[in-house]
Amino acid sequence: MEILRVEQLIKRFGGIVAVDNVSFTLQKNEILGIIGPNGAGKTTLFSLISGTEKPDSGKIYLNGEDITNTKPYHRALKGLVRTFQIVRPFKSLTVEQNLHAPLTVRKIHFNQEEAIQLLKKLGLIQKRNIPAAYLTHGEMKKLEVARGLIAKPRILMLDEPFGGLTVAEIGEVTSVLREYYEEGGTLVIIEHRLRELMKLIQRALVMDQGKLIFEGAPADVAKSEAVIKAYLGTDTVI
Ligand SMILES: Nc1ncnc2c1ncn2[C@@H]1O[C@H](COP(=O)(O)OP(=O)(O)OP(=O)(O)O)[C@@H](O)[C@H]1O
Ligand SMILES: [Mg+2]
Repeated sequence: MEILRVEQLIKRFGGIVAVDNVSFTLQKNEILGIIGPNGAGKTTLFSLISGTEKPDSGKIYLNGEDITNTKPYHRALKGLVRTFQIVRPFKSLTVEQNLHAPLTVRKIHFNQEEAIQLLKKLGLIQKRNIPAAYLTHGEMKKLEVARGLIAKPRILMLDEPFGGLTVAEIGEVTSVLREYYEEGGTLVIIEHRLRELMKLIQRALVMDQGKLIFEGAPADVAKSEAVIKAYLGTDTVI
């Protein structure tokens, strides 16, 4: 069943076409990966879908409803939740307190037992009562994922959740995401750590210079001429 549809989205910043006529659909209970070189437009695409940026043209439908012109909180209330590439926890609040805020938007109650379980699975339980300012970069990234999951999203959009994480931390994040998926969740993940991403996703989109240049199975990504060309000259190995 289709949960999200994006039609011919265009977003310009001055002379740059950050998102150039991008269309795709997302099925309920799917794990979709979005990859592409730096500056390809991946984060901008997330911002258009979550509503923090407005498209110059194109349409976005959530469960068949046209949400193109709705506010970000409206989309979050409907279960469209995103995390940020550059993490922004409330630094003076404790790790646990950071899990309260996303719930206000979703209008659901804080379940402390659930929060504790999530922090345990992510290796953050010992940091539960300290201000988020004292976390390592990896811990902040994991807290960002926890903040996304605690909101019980219908669609969770993660912008580089593995960025700067150790292999062990990636394992922790992957296993909570799999659990969310197994309980019926839907995921869209932007990531540069391709080896780890490919193990998790069911379908991949590849962007380059604003355009969608590939859509298909993870195993076929590295066989695509267009993808190889886009990544030539970058450091990322596909
Ligand atoms: N607010 C903005 N104002 C002006 N230009 C922007 C803005 N946001 C993004 N851009 C430009 O749009 C293009 C796409 O940027 P975006 O951040 O979406 O790429 P990305 O694929 O997420 O890259 P990365 O992998 O490095 O995170 C880039 O050329 C970027 O400089
Ligand atoms: Mg980005």
